[in-house]
Amino acid sequence: MRHRAAIVGAGHTRFGALDEGPRALLRSAADAAFVSVDRGVDRSRVDAAFLATLGFGGWQIGNSAAVLGEEAGVSGIPTTRIENACASGGFALRAAVDAVGSGASELALVAGVEKMTDVPNARRRYWLGVSGDTEWERLAGLTFAGVYGLIASRYLSEHHVGPEALAAVAVKNHANGALNPNAHFRKPVRLDQVAAAPRVADPLGLYDCCPVSDGAAALLVVPAEEARHYTDTPVFVEGLGAGSDSLAVQERAHLTRFSASRRAAEQAFRSAGCDRSSVSFLEVHDCFTIAELLALEDLGFAPDGEAGRMTLAGETARNGRLPVNPDGGLKAKGHPIGTTGVAQAYEAFCQLRGTAGARQVPGARRALTHNVGGAGATAAVTIFGVG
Ligand code: COA
Repeated sequence: MRHRAAIVGAGHTRFGALDEGPRALLRSAADAAFVSVDRGVDRSRVDAAFLATLGFGGWQIGNSAAVLGEEAGVSGIPTTRIENACASGGFALRAAVDAVGSGASELALVAGVEKMTDVPNARRRYWLGVSGDTEWERLAGLTFAGVYGLIASRYLSEHHVGPEALAAVAVKNHANGALNPNAHFRKPVRLDQVAAAPRVADPLGLYDCCPVSDGAAALLVVPAEEARHYTDTPVFVEGLGAGSDSLAVQERAHLTRFSASRRAAEQAFRSAGCDRSSVSFLEVHDCFTIAELLALEDLGFAPDGEAGRMTLAGETARNGRLPVNPDGGLKAKGHPIGTTGVAQAYEAFCQLRGTAGARQVPGARRALTHNVGGAGATAAVTIFGVG
């Protein structure tokens, strides 16, 4: 198998309601990524930088990638902003892998940042909606919780599954988040608490939703053949896939399948040349609990309609047959929109190097990350491996 690129350093701030602004968050994540490189790296060697951000609340709407250059201490090089809503991070990593894989870059910095919690409530609702379809959904009042609530209702009735399947995702991911020092929520929740929580968009309640979080993450990407100059344990990007779909959910043939994720997964496995059975764990885009069930099916790890039963049986728990979201997922670790895809890769980097601490998946050798924009309009899948 020919690997295109490798990650040799990664950094991550805490997620949650933080005091720092976007510049300070970017600086912390980038500094942490540089410090994490085992044999060290001179910042002057970085020759391309990619910033993933929605620019929530209107933070630096134009030209924000230049800010990454400034805060990471690499100003002067080409900097590019990638915006694909919640999938910005996955697509920014893809752009960096393409840059080093094609020979255009020798050392690329990828960072994601979002500052969400300092935005007043009315504006927060506006910014949470901007990535949805404007004509048919957003202006009619449909929020993302509303869209995923409709999808969840359809899923439960189509597959004769009870809401406890959704609750089981929340309980699992909160349990994982409790072990992650960077997580927004570090408290486990019980099934009965999830069931009794205030409704947000029926059947989704408070614990079925990801929170509104601040946070940043950063990665250093190099050509695969250069990786061992930086570390004895690089994490290789083995496969990449991406897809898109109609922005409006009403245009889709299926409410309960995201074809962008399906296409991205097929492409990623084809390019990696490996089987699903070889994947040690998954980081999937659980912006709402129903999204994790769809992901398991769209990525080909569960037959359609079976992901709920698989979750209830404990198969996706950290010590289960196929751990899913060992870092707590978007649900408990948090979801600073543009940062998420980069943070998923950070988790793959830590887990595959055996440095994930209390949440370590024993013996992890191959990981898959899955990053979705909005309600499935864009999706990026990446397969990582060691050795
Ligand atoms: N999961 C668990 N607990 C949550 C939570 C979540 N998603 N969101 C907030 N809380 C907790 C808070 O910590 C707080 O707890 P405390 O009282 O013990 O301090 C309490 O619930 C109230 O917090 P608050 O911030 O007032 O909640 P809210 O009602 O304003 O917001 C949601 C709750 C679910 C509406 C909000 O988190 C949300 O909009 N999430 C979805 C974000 C989204 O759409 N992202 C894009 C996805 S595509």
